[in-house]
Amino acid sequence: SAPLRIGLAGIGTVGAGVIEVLRENADIISKHCPRPILVTAVSARDRGRDRGIDLSGIAWVDDAAALAARDDVDVVVEVIGGSEGKAKEVVEKAIAAGKHVVTANKALLAHHGTALALAAEEAEVALAYEAAVAGGIPVIKAMREGLAANRITRVYGILNGTCNYILTQMRETGREFADVLEEAQKLGYAEADPSFDVDGIDAAHKLSILTSVAFGCAVDFAGVRISGIRNVSAMDIAYAEELGFRIKLLGLARQTPGGIEQRVHACMVPAASTIAKVDGVYNAVVTSGNFVGENIAIGRGAGRGPTASAVVADLMDIARDRILPAFSAPAATLARAVQAPVGQR
Ligand code: HSE
Repeated sequence: SAPLRIGLAGIGTVGAGVIEVLRENADIISKHCPRPILVTAVSARDRGRDRGIDLSGIAWVDDAAALAARDDVDVVVEVIGGSEGKAKEVVEKAIAAGKHVVTANKALLAHHGTALALAAEEAEVALAYEAAVAGGIPVIKAMREGLAANRITRVYGILNGTCNYILTQMRETGREFADVLEEAQKLGYAEADPSFDVDGIDAAHKLSILTSVAFGCAVDFAGVRISGIRNVSAMDIAYAEELGFRIKLLGLARQTPGGIEQRVHACMVPAASTIAKVDGVYNAVVTSGNFVGENIAIGRGAGRGPTASAVVADLMDIARDRILPAFSAPAATLARAVQAPVGQR
């Protein structure tokens, strides 16, 4: 059958990873998905940079937004990042041009998810974003497929690998936050602006998306109460340990009588719990459903391989014509859904 043709907006860590996964695992991918997936065009700011990847035979487009207009592109993959600017323009233009969109951009969806879902629904195209939440953990699929028969009562987890790495290092070595931050940045998992990681904003972006999928409400980033880990000291961690606890930055959403509560902050978790043992750049998502009970998924939440693996899984869905509404309910329903204010906004 005719290949599904991809226009790749951004060939940084994740974009190059997508090309690599498609090439190196072509045989595995073809077992699940008979329709070939082919990158036909790419775009990035700096054409000259050596990305360690062979781009011959792939068209180069200087302006990512132009990918949307190309006849040889069926799906635009947006891995530029950022909630505004080029990333938003590319996604909007792609949808308007009737192209499917796969994105890893949690900031974009946290701020504009419901509006983009509405546009995608009107244009009858996919808006898929497995890679945007918890990297390689297939949490969006789990919520919409394997756990979909449940009323979700609570979802929480470790949603930022950089913070989890910092807290793990602080505990293991007794060093202070500032000493470990730079090391975490060198690992390449941090956001372009690391304050997004350490102030809890990245985790809140992901939580707001997860909440929408879990509870069928509009994406409400403004409704997340957020604090980060800058004020956690090595002494806090040591005292917590003495009391039998570990400190983790958690994102949590739960149904309350007053509406859905969403918050991100450092928490003390019992040292013997599963989540307490999730260390380093790993993420974890714990979901409670009224029939399934508690379900825990653990995996790499950041980095080239895990994030690219999730992007390619979305591409395979599109190639197999498995296209679901962007969130758990039709976007038109979500946009109308009134969410009772909880906590401080
Ligand atoms: N900065 C993010 C993290 C990358 O550390 O988890 C993945 O979204």
